[in-house]
Amino acid sequence: MAHTTPGRITLGIETSCDETAAAVYHTHNGLLSNALFSQVELHKQFGGVVPELASRSQLEKIEPIVRHALEGAHLSPPDIDVIAVTHKPGLPGSLLVGVCFAKALAWAHNKKLVGVNHLEGHAFSAFLEHTIPFEHLCLTASGGHTSLYIIRDFGVYETIGTTQDDAAGEAFDKIAKLLALPYPGGPVIERLAAEVNFQDFFGYPRATAHSLDFSFSGLKTAVLYDLIKRGAYDMRAKQLLNPSAELKAQVASSLLVCVADIFEQKLARAYARYPHIKAVSFVGGVACNKYIRQRLSAWCERNKLTLYVPRPAYCTDNAAMIAFVGNYKAQQGLYADMTLDILK
Ligand code: KG4
Ligand code: ZN
Repeated sequence: MAHTTPGRITLGIETSCDETAAAVYHTHNGLLSNALFSQVELHKQFGGVVPELASRSQLEKIEPIVRHALEGAHLSPPDIDVIAVTHKPGLPGSLLVGVCFAKALAWAHNKKLVGVNHLEGHAFSAFLEHTIPFEHLCLTASGGHTSLYIIRDFGVYETIGTTQDDAAGEAFDKIAKLLALPYPGGPVIERLAAEVNFQDFFGYPRATAHSLDFSFSGLKTAVLYDLIKRGAYDMRAKQLLNPSAELKAQVASSLLVCVADIFEQKLARAYARYPHIKAVSFVGGVACNKYIRQRLSAWCERNKLTLYVPRPAYCTDNAAMIAFVGNYKAQQGLYADMTLDILK
């Protein structure tokens, strides 16, 4: 197909937390490569991300991962038009590695630089595979964030709800830790819940407030007190008292049903307030969850809306979404300079 404008090639770099990622995106040909190193094995023994270890690992991996992404696209730095990098929000030490590397590369090869907000990356990640009509509703649920947005256009969005405390993925991770299950908690909770058919055994509290905001820290406390009531947790010793595998599966299942109910409730509330929306997208690490996807997809079907969910590799942290957002920001002329930092 003939194009009036030459394609722009954007290298995306993502180091906001515990993944070192780089990807190359071409305006007309889409994603050319996508490289990632996950630190999950490094943090597993601690039951969560240890910031100092995360930034040290980012330092080790940034150069080989960027090289890998360029090689995967059969390109070298001079072929790139734009370098896009996640500059906020995230762990400061981890973010600095990506931002300093991107600046150095841009300086050395005289390339344009774009700063990308990590949350904007997630919010537009479903565009890597789909054309989603504007305006639409976006639910982002990850380990660090849980928010609702009205997406009006590329780069134009309004936050209409957000978590007041923990993120949904954080709740899965913390409750998994409480149950002595491995990190990250989301996938293992989904696996256990499937064993007992995604039933609601314990009826944990759903958010009832009439707002579009979320709150998940109370859910963790509710699970903890329920475990104590069932004699499965010693509050004084702060330890689990050998609960049966069945009880763990029942907790996981009740938790998943509860979170799906909360999400469904928020979508319904948002749709009532913004009835003009044309579609819904569900993104972030928690969107890997097949049960929650099915629940939200059924809700959308009942409401004659289409649900767009990225493939799992684009739900969890990745650089493809950063390259995509960087590419349209460059198109819009929204370049950064060497003063780009992790605070503003
Ligand atoms: O997007 P992401 O990789 O990182 C952040 O930006 O936070 O999300 C990681 C989160 C973790 O909390 C993890 O437990 C959760 O996503 N997660 C899941 C599933 N896979 C990952 N939660 C529920 N079900 C899953 N299958
Ligand atoms: Zn993320």
